[in-house]
Amino acid sequence: MNDYKTIDLQEWTCLNKEGDQGSGLIYTNPKEPDVLLKTSRRAEEASRERTVKEFHTAKAVYDLGVPTPKMLEIVKMGDRLGFKSEWLKDKKSFARLAGENPESIDSLAAQMAASAHKLHATQALGSEWIPSMKEVMLQAASSTLMVEGKAKEALERFVEGLEDAPTLLHGKFNFTNIIVENGKTYWIDLSHAAHGLPMFDLGHFYLYCHYFAKEDRVNNIAHMNQEQILVFWNRFAFHYNGPDGIDSFEAQCKRFAGLALVMIGYTAVLTDPERGYLGKLAAYLLQ
Ligand SMILES: Nc1ncnc2c1ncn2[C@@H]1O[C@H](COP(=O)(O)OP(=O)(O)O)[C@@H](O)[C@H]1O
Ligand SMILES: [Mg+2]
Repeated sequence: MNDYKTIDLQEWTCLNKEGDQGSGLIYTNPKEPDVLLKTSRRAEEASRERTVKEFHTAKAVYDLGVPTPKMLEIVKMGDRLGFKSEWLKDKKSFARLAGENPESIDSLAAQMAASAHKLHATQALGSEWIPSMKEVMLQAASSTLMVEGKAKEALERFVEGLEDAPTLLHGKFNFTNIIVENGKTYWIDLSHAAHGLPMFDLGHFYLYCHYFAKEDRVNNIAHMNQEQILVFWNRFAFHYNGPDGIDSFEAQCKRFAGLALVMIGYTAVLTDPERGYLGKLAAYLLQ
C-alpha cells in the first residue's frame, strides 16, 4: 500500500451524481485533462484489494488487445486506493444512445453483439489476474446461502459439469459497460473479467434486462424504460445467436442468469431479506 503515490483529492472533481449507487466514485482534474480517477467508496482492506484487482484485471484485458481505456497507475489518498485510467471524455454508453434514440435499439444491439463476438473470440489463459469463471463460480456455489438442500446440490453439480473454457469474459456484461467515443467502441468496468463459457456473460445480461430492469434505480442507469430494455435484449439475442435455436439459447441464458445471481450473492453484501428474495429467484432461474 505504501508503494503507491499519494494524490490530493482536493484537486479532483467528483463526477458521480448524488444518489448514484455505483460501486466506485469517478473524478477528473483539469491539471490532468486526459485522466479519469476511479476510487472505492470505502477505506477498509477489502475495498483496497478490490481496487488493486480491478486495476490489474482491466490492464490484463487491455494487454490482450481488447478495446478498453488504458490503465495508468494505482494511487492512494489516505486509507483509500484508486486508479488512474485514460478518460474517454466524449463517450456515450450504448444504454444512453439507445435511450436517446429508441429507434436505434436494433442497430445498437447488432453492434453490441458484433463487439461481444470479438470479445468472446479472445483467448485469455495465462494471466494471474484473469481467473477461471468456473473456479470462482464453484466457490460461490459451495459457499452460497441463497439456495439450500437439493437445489444447492443441483447447482454445484451444474457448475462442476461446465467446461472450463479459455474465452475472455467481461464479467459485468451489459449495455452500460460498453461505450462509444469518436466512432470507436470500448468495454469498461472490467473488475470481474475472467475466462470461461460466454454463457456466463449472456446470463448476466439476461438477468440485468429481465429482472434488474424492473428497478427504478436501474432504469435511471440504463436510460431506457423496462419495455425498451426488453426490446434491446430480444434484438441482442437475435444478433448474437442468430435466428436458429433462439428458444434454447434463451433457456440457457436463463439458467446462467441464476448463476449470475449466486455470483452476486458471493461478491456483494446482501441483507437477509435481499438474500431471501434473490435466493428464490435464483432457484427459479436455475430449474
Ligand atoms: N475511461 C472512462 N472514460 C470515460 N468515462 C468512464 C470511463 N470509465 C468509466 N466511466 C464512466 O463512469 C461510470 C462508472 O464507471 P464503471 O467503471 O462502469 O463503474 P461502476 O462499477 O460504478 O459501474 C461509467 O458508467 C462511465 O459513465
Ligand atoms: Mg459500470
